[in-house]
Amino acid sequence: MGKKVLKIGQITDLHIGEDESLVQGIDVRSNFLAAYNSESMKDLDLLVLSGDLANENAEPGAYSYISEILKDSKVPVCVIPGNHDNVEVMEKFFDLKGKVHDGKCYYRFEMDGRSVFFLDSANGTVSSEQLSWLEKEAAKVDGEVLLFVHHPPCHCDHKFMDLRYSMKNIDEVQATLSKIKNLKHIFVGHYHFESTVEIENQTVHVTPSTQMQIDPNKSVFCLSSAAPGWRVIQWGENFLETKVYFSQTP
Ligand SMILES: [Fe+2]
Repeated sequence: MGKKVLKIGQITDLHIGEDESLVQGIDVRSNFLAAYNSESMKDLDLLVLSGDLANENAEPGAYSYISEILKDSKVPVCVIPGNHDNVEVMEKFFDLKGKVHDGKCYYRFEMDGRSVFFLDSANGTVSSEQLSWLEKEAAKVDGEVLLFVHHPPCHCDHKFMDLRYSMKNIDEVQATLSKIKNLKHIFVGHYHFESTVEIENQTVHVTPSTQMQIDPNKSVFCLSSAAPGWRVIQWGENFLETKVYFSQTP
């Protein structure tokens, strides 16, 4: 295992539209840029976009915009789909070679001798093929691994999202996760709020959206803020520190 402390940035739920029109009155492109260009995101070793890059239905204009911004990035970028994305369309704009299996985008990314895993929960579930693959691959790794997936593999005490849009096979996913002893931290999005949830063997870090945040205390949709949020992770040997940032409300 490498000795370096790796710095990972997570941007999630960008909800970029087909063109520059505002999305629900929010300038989602400028919100994304606020996160991407933030001082806190300098000197990353890895940038992760963890799903819902596109606003509603895999708008090609969203992927084209994001890939254009990222093309000059000196940092490796790992992308996974959310429920508003489509892997077939994403493949036209992002290099997903070797990362798509039977239409699902899941893979392992290695850096400095350490492994980060990415799963595809775009249809609201993590397939049993992915779960077996994760269990097998993580067992090959000597040392701690990290996992990114769009949907939290748990309920998160968010009235609106838990009720309507939670992962559909939580029990099956948790049954596998509980067996993976070298996985301690899971990073997700989808819920449009910040939270930390403990499950049997892992801490689930829920990262806010760059589009807008949803009030967790209301069972109907209620916007709580239009300020973009994102996450920075510092990952060393037997050490992980993470912090969520919000920009000023635009
Ligand atoms: Fe989502």
